[in-house]
Amino acid sequence: MRLLVLGGTAWLGRTVAEEALRRGHEVTCFARGTAPVAEGAELVRGDRDDDDGLAPVAGERWDAVVDVSRQPGQVRRAVRDLSSEHHVFVSTGNVYAAFDTVEQSEDAALRAPLEGEVMADMETYGEAKVACERAVLGGSAPAAVIRSGLIGGPGDWSGRTGYWPWRFAHPVAEEVVVPDDPDFPTALIDVRDLSAWIVTLVEERAPGVFNATGPTTRLEDALATAAAVAGSGARPRPVSRERLAELGIDGWMGPASLPLWIGDPDWRGFATMDTTRARAAGLVTRPLRETLADALAFEEQRPAGEERRAGLSDDDERRVLAATSGRAG
Ligand SMILES: NC(=O)c1ccc[n+]([C@@H]2O[C@H](COP(=O)([O-])OP(=O)(O)OC[C@H]3O[C@@H](n4cnc5c(N)ncnc54)[C@H](OP(=O)(O)O)[C@@H]3O)[C@@H](O)[C@H]2O)c1
Repeated sequence: MRLLVLGGTAWLGRTVAEEALRRGHEVTCFARGTAPVAEGAELVRGDRDDDDGLAPVAGERWDAVVDVSRQPGQVRRAVRDLSSEHHVFVSTGNVYAAFDTVEQSEDAALRAPLEGEVMADMETYGEAKVACERAVLGGSAPAAVIRSGLIGGPGDWSGRTGYWPWRFAHPVAEEVVVPDDPDFPTALIDVRDLSAWIVTLVEERAPGVFNATGPTTRLEDALATAAAVAGSGARPRPVSRERLAELGIDGWMGPASLPLWIGDPDWRGFATMDTTRARAAGLVTRPLRETLADALAFEEQRPAGEERRAGLSDDDERRVLAATSGRAG
């Protein structure tokens, strides 16, 4: 098959390209070229922000197009300009209007689509992806829209899935700061599993809208798995949501955060999704321990001293341990 990956030089898109090449497909990646493509793929350079930016790949008939963009204008132009038997769009669980329900299905209410062509900042990420989904589903090619949950594993530049095994592998004391929320429902999908399934959908030209993430796992169990893959003897130090907030510690992502977890009760279901439809369409997810072990290996080969993009720095970890010692967190 001749596959056009719009993007394909970052993380997920690149892993999709690698998987397609492994299965013997011909892969062209379209990007501005700020990073190299996978070995064996062709890179066609262009800027999707230009109205005729896709011209170098628009004159051909592709077996499939895979798009990872979050910009409605870019996606609309791809639907308008490209000729393909099948169109796969990588969306996100952020498209849903609310997150207070655990494991909601694809039929749950969506946010209003972003108006205009450009998502100015990540505040409107969900709305932008809704607009992108609409464009793809309104195109002439049969389309698969994949609403991915948190993507994890090797290459996770965000540091979210590597943080916990890394922290347990490098504790600053005999205890590791964790949210006192053992039943919080976590989920993530390994980048390799998501990529393999995307290529399967391409091969089968399967249409539909699909949630895609791994099984829902209690936070306490996910953290025990992280500690086990790290071979760590450190014990968790549970700290309450309120105390963490007082100490300036957030959930999910970014500096001074505790990843995989969100304290806001309105977002309790955010990480999880009902994936019945995707599993019926061939999605297979590996055990969490494999993803966390490989995320740890990725963390360990990062340059020493490189600033973490998620989790607690050693200084923050010590500060929270000191502030919560000898008292209930
Ligand atoms: N990370 C998560 O946990 C998570 C969760 C849910 C969903 N998702 C979705 O998963 C996907 C991740 O994709 P990804 O890892 O491949 O990363 P990405 O950062 O979305 O990929 C961007 C790709 O598009 C290219 N690009 C950007 N601007 C361009 C332009 N103006 N013209 C042409 N090409 C352009 C980039 O290459 P150049 O810079 O060289 O142009 C790069 O290849 C996204 O759809 C994201 O929304 C992620």
